[in-house]
Amino acid sequence: ATFAFSKKPIRVAVTGAAGQICYSLLFRIAHGDMLGYDQPVILHLIDIPAAQKALKGVAMELGDCAFPLLQGIVCTDDLKVGFTDVEAALLVGAKPRGKGQERGDLLKDNAKIFIPQGKALSDYAHRDVRVLVVGNPANTNALITATHAVSLPKKNFAAMTRLDHDRAVWQVAEKTGSVVADIAKVVVWGNHSPTMSPDLAWATVKGKRALDLVGEEWYTKTFIPRVQKRGAEIIENRGLSSAASAGNAALEHMRSWFLGHKHDWVSFGIWSNGNTYNVPEGLFYSFPVTVENKEWSVVNGLTITAEQQRKMTVTANELLEERKAIEDLLKI
Ligand code: NAD
Ligand code: LMR
Repeated sequence: ATFAFSKKPIRVAVTGAAGQICYSLLFRIAHGDMLGYDQPVILHLIDIPAAQKALKGVAMELGDCAFPLLQGIVCTDDLKVGFTDVEAALLVGAKPRGKGQERGDLLKDNAKIFIPQGKALSDYAHRDVRVLVVGNPANTNALITATHAVSLPKKNFAAMTRLDHDRAVWQVAEKTGSVVADIAKVVVWGNHSPTMSPDLAWATVKGKRALDLVGEEWYTKTFIPRVQKRGAEIIENRGLSSAASAGNAALEHMRSWFLGHKHDWVSFGIWSNGNTYNVPEGLFYSFPVTVENKEWSVVNGLTITAEQQRKMTVTANELLEERKAIEDLLKI
């Protein structure tokens, strides 16, 4: 009786719900950090049959938090049950890489997971669902999911590059002795892989040009490779792939999508239409966007230098190669 919420609950599906990332992500969604502190949620927790016991334990802990906004928990390995009527889906479930692997090495193991998930979303999800693919290699997995979700628009799917974006923001804040809120217009282009192109060409720190503050040498020799290889650096130190920061990025991506992100740019891995910044059609490629009314728009009209265009092509070419490697999985 202390808490009365007037909004109808939103059903949120999360795959890989018994895994590492979800062990921080789910609790924050249930607390309201993702969709707002006045928005009740019903969590649809999806994992494979072998993980159901562990999943039950996670659900018990979620309940034990007595979150006022959490109005139901569904645990399942059945995609129909998992995706029925969901308005948000976070596809986290997939194998993470270990030391010495690249995310592309996961393609063989993980890609096939996303065919049945795309189909089930298409058949059972709310028609206005927003789907974020986190499982690696995220961009190509998003392509597979969206391809098989034949009844849903491609614009409702995204691959997560928000972690790369936020890593870049933090590096600039730390280097310039400023705080995150001072930083604007950071961009990450392309694939969530070491070919990604973190770009500070338009970035500002308290309205001043970031590149003038950080210097060319730090930008090219430290910043760019550090952001590109941060995932591996975390694995090297933690012994496991990033989890709490990845969960946070997934939550922030969805928050931006549902609640808007119009005062600054943010990076979304989204379907390329072939007419934007020379990126070939039909790739999930990270672009700078703003978001209003649950729809993203690419920031258009930026002048791209020849050197920057070259970097953007390198990462697009890698995505074309990934697409070629799984072309059989794109047959509907
Ligand atoms: P984890 O191994 O701890 O958990 C993965 C979970 O997924 C497990 O519970 C597993 O049973 C489940 N799973 C496997 N196949 C499934 C399926 N078909 N349906 C539903 N669930 C399934 O891994 P994690 O650390 O939570 O990472 C998950 C994924 O996220 C990895 O692929 C990792 O590389 C990726 N990741 C992406 C980013 C990014 O920035 N895009 C960041 C961090 C991690
Ligand atoms: C990350 O960027 O931390 C994740 O994609 C995990 C990884 O394999 O690097």
